[in-house]
Amino acid sequence: MKEYEQNQQKNKEHYEKVYANYNLNNILYWLNNLEGYLDFVTNYETSWSALYQNDFRNRIKGKKVLEMGCGDCNNAAIMAALGARVYANDIASTSGKIVEQLNGSFDFSHPIVFVEGDFLNNDLASGSFDFVIGKAFLHHLSLPVEREFLKETARLLKTDGEARFFEPAVNSKLLDELRWYIPIGNRPSKFRGEAFRKWKEEDPHPDRSFSSAHFKKAVNEFFEECLIKPVGTLDRFRNLIKNRKWNGRYAKWALKNEQKLPLFLNSKFARSQLIVGKLPLK
Ligand SMILES: C[S@@+](CC[C@H](N)C(=O)[O-])C[C@H]1O[C@@H](n2cnc3c(N)ncnc32)[C@H](O)[C@@H]1O
Repeated sequence: MKEYEQNQQKNKEHYEKVYANYNLNNILYWLNNLEGYLDFVTNYETSWSALYQNDFRNRIKGKKVLEMGCGDCNNAAIMAALGARVYANDIASTSGKIVEQLNGSFDFSHPIVFVEGDFLNNDLASGSFDFVIGKAFLHHLSLPVEREFLKETARLLKTDGEARFFEPAVNSKLLDELRWYIPIGNRPSKFRGEAFRKWKEEDPHPDRSFSSAHFKKAVNEFFEECLIKPVGTLDRFRNLIKNRKWNGRYAKWALKNEQKLPLFLNSKFARSQLIVGKLPLK
């Protein structure tokens, strides 16, 4: 099996399990409290704060939006509740089950359309989308495959359409090396050699560049404009605060105030980035 196929299969197997017993009640509660939920996540959560920048929330009403790698479909559902005509794609068929249940449980003005399987094998018409979104997605692809995804994104977008990707950012070699030694979630420290090796075998992320320079170059191959907004320079320290209340307060303060830092600091030390591609090259 080719490396590309191995990576796809690893992702599919991993995420089929992750979403198999997904509890829909959370999303339904958020959909029924839409404005409050969006106010909360865009102020306190890194990925939402980044992806929903520049009034994305109000710009998608009635627009045709494709989300690649929709995962648990939380974002796809929120976009649909905001009035967008959402197409949600994932290689994991369990995401399709979530979409089916969501459509049956919530009165979207446009029910979500699930596009099953590898994004590259979609059957969608060229130049038909206003937005193509990827939230924590591109970095799951090896570099040659990512190139194909960006090419496909440009094909699917209208000439005034926009691609928006929220991705991790690694622009400092030192920070990158250090992060492997700090355990996080189910990832053990690199100091624990055997446990780390086992975790790495299961991990669905290929070894590749996450640098802003890489993303800019990759996007610019298929888009005339590529804007990169670093996110999370101060927010990256939230994990050090264990108290829930103070963690939340710090996150909100950090996401707001880090925007006042000089760009060279944010570009070097941000944990994540919003990548926007405009004017797709046809
Ligand atoms: C980290 S998850 C992100 C999920 C969601 N966007 C979120 O923010 O929670 C990455 C998702 O990409 C999906 N994926 C990986 N490779 C894919 C491919 N080639 N085509 C479509 N989806 C893929 C995985 O199944 C998984 O749901």
